[in-house]
Amino acid sequence: MSQLDFSQHHVLLTGASGGVGQALATELVRRGMRVTLVARPSSALQDLAQRLNQQVIELDLLNADAAQQLRQYAQQSLSTTRPVTGIIHNAGSAYTRLFEHSDWPQQQRLLMLNLMSPMAITHALLPYLKQRPEALVMTIGSVFGAIGYPSQAAYCASKAGLQRFTEALHRECSDSTVQVFHCQPRAIETALNHGAMAQLNQQLGSAVDSPQWVAQQICQQLQHGKPRRVLGWPERIFVPLNALFPRLVDGALRKPYRLISQLLKEHYS
Ligand SMILES: NC(=O)c1ccc[n+]([C@@H]2O[C@H](COP(=O)([O-])OP(=O)(O)OC[C@H]3O[C@@H](n4cnc5c(N)ncnc54)[C@H](OP(=O)(O)O)[C@@H]3O)[C@@H](O)[C@H]2O)c1
Repeated sequence: MSQLDFSQHHVLLTGASGGVGQALATELVRRGMRVTLVARPSSALQDLAQRLNQQVIELDLLNADAAQQLRQYAQQSLSTTRPVTGIIHNAGSAYTRLFEHSDWPQQQRLLMLNLMSPMAITHALLPYLKQRPEALVMTIGSVFGAIGYPSQAAYCASKAGLQRFTEALHRECSDSTVQVFHCQPRAIETALNHGAMAQLNQQLGSAVDSPQWVAQQICQQLQHGKPRRVLGWPERIFVPLNALFPRLVDGALRKPYRLISQLLKEHYS
């Protein structure tokens, strides 16, 4: 894979107002990329746009016409000096509950945002991107896409789906000008990682990365043209271990399961 020249690219970044999104937008712009910031309307989004001097698309990705709106924006950018060359699917939400106690509509919304929306947007944009001399599609997954974690069933399902979707797309695009990337971070210090899950990480002494560090790792991945990356140690070992010897990981996750069950009882009963 060839090295990526940031100054040649203009990406749509979803989830731009969140913890990873703000740090990633800042790092991409610092490296010379143009970034259109996509999220629902908020002062965080407007402040970021002003600070980085970049454009904004205020959009709820769960709207039925969200993918078409982004496609139109990309088409219209052809009349500017720096047309859109890619998308980074970073928006996401989490929902920490034991599956039997979870609210089904909330799980459905999570699957729509984390999995269906990136697929729908990519489907709408791909014919446009394939016409560009260089283009990219990146999805932000999670180590939970590779390891089924108690209390995260829908989140794990959404990120596992996203990982396989991106892998298939990467292989389909191998003869094209579109580079496809997937990154799987571990826990990050953002609003998404709150409540019982944050407490669990604290009690287990699990590492939690800063959004700035994660943003730098994502940029290095893009720069070096690496299609896939798992961030963090020992997660890089746990992922292949779970694939090869899942019963070992079953055992290792019994303690976290008991702890999270207890914490969820304290939070929600
Ligand atoms: N934090 C972690 O521990 C962790 C670990 C591994 C992977 N990740 C992944 O990293 C990515 C970024 O997460 P984060 O930690 O930065 O979370 P965050 O701070 O909660 O940010 C989530 C972003 O998604 C946007 N979003 C949520 N619902 C939306 C909707 N309906 N339409 C448009 N945008 C919407 C939010 O914007 P608005 O709500 O303002 O619209 C916000 O910009 C996610 O894909 C997450 O799964 C996070």
